[in-house]
Amino acid sequence: MINAQRSSQHLKNIPNFVRIVEVGARDGLQNEKVIVPTDVKIELIKLLVSSGLSVVEATSFVSPKWVPQLADAKDVLKAIQDVEGASFPVLTPNLKGFEAAVAAGAKEVAVFPAASESFSKANLNCGIEDNLARCRDIASASRSLRIPVRGYISCVVGCPLEGKIAPAKVAYVAKSLYEMGISEISLGDTIGVGTPGNVIPMLEAVLDVVPIDKLAVHFHDTYGQALSNILISLQMGISTVDSSVSGLGGCPYAKGATGNVATEDVVYMLNGLGVKTNVDLGKLMLAGDFICKHLGRASGSKVATALNKVTNSASKL
Ligand code: HMG
Ligand code: MG
Repeated sequence: MINAQRSSQHLKNIPNFVRIVEVGARDGLQNEKVIVPTDVKIELIKLLVSSGLSVVEATSFVSPKWVPQLADAKDVLKAIQDVEGASFPVLTPNLKGFEAAVAAGAKEVAVFPAASESFSKANLNCGIEDNLARCRDIASASRSLRIPVRGYISCVVGCPLEGKIAPAKVAYVAKSLYEMGISEISLGDTIGVGTPGNVIPMLEAVLDVVPIDKLAVHFHDTYGQALSNILISLQMGISTVDSSVSGLGGCPYAKGATGNVATEDVVYMLNGLGVKTNVDLGKLMLAGDFICKHLGRASGSKVATALNKVTNSASKL
């Protein structure tokens, strides 16, 4: 929905409400050197839900040999079955993962093709077309179970192996996902190399083939460009944004990829723009404090760092 109240022509296309898809428990923890204990993951997810986030990606049903950090996917998902107020999508690379996820109680899943052939092989051990065939298998298996399938596209502007990615390649994968009935397509700048200069042409190419209400953006903040890229995406009418508490994140198969844009930073910017998210920044910071303490590191969120200095305690916000 467009905010008709906004007086400035620069803000008039920005949506009134932005749905945040929190990916910290998956994208964040998949990239940690240490394996985070299952009960810490479960507590993190509960804290994220209590901050008002309505979509909290929980884990991945991928090979434990490839991503040992998320080998406890079944236990995590089972433990949050009764948590109300949010949906808990999980990543499924193939039918084996999809079936395991459904057996563990998944009600939403996500597939994750790439726009780069080399990255697809590095991340999934198969090329783009073979992977799209796996996505199609999952899309048809999910239909009778009425399970929505989200589709990430990795490397939408740049690839760690191939360099620049042409917008037409991203549009091709997006159109393929749309035609197989994928519920939402999240455009991933996996290594965070995007700027508004290459994000705009990529979005324009995708918007030629997929309706805007089916799109989400997923920016990693490696070069500090994520908020600018999000603002441009909002100005172009996109209203779903992925982010990760404390800026945790990265892909183990994308060398040099650092964290996702921090959810705290996204919420702060949206609050400043008068865009509703239903997320309580103070409670979100408590979730960030919790996981950062566990990992023994400072938050990757500039907003959380600044506010913690000012207030000395997120609970005072
Ligand atoms: P493969 O080795 O080609 O699989 O891996 P395979 O079919 O040859 O099977 C080999 C073994 O894996 C077999 O076990 C299978 O049973 C097992 P074994 O007989 O050796 O004991 N296996 C599985 N086990 C559990 N769950 C499964 C599964 N499938 C096979 N689903 C595979 C292919 C796709 C499994 C592997 O490449 C994989 O797991 N890749 C996932 C990599 C990953 O999770 N990357 C990070 C997520 S993507 C990302 O972060 C980007 C994103 O955030 C967007 C962005 O930032 O742009 C989404
Ligand atoms: Mg990612």
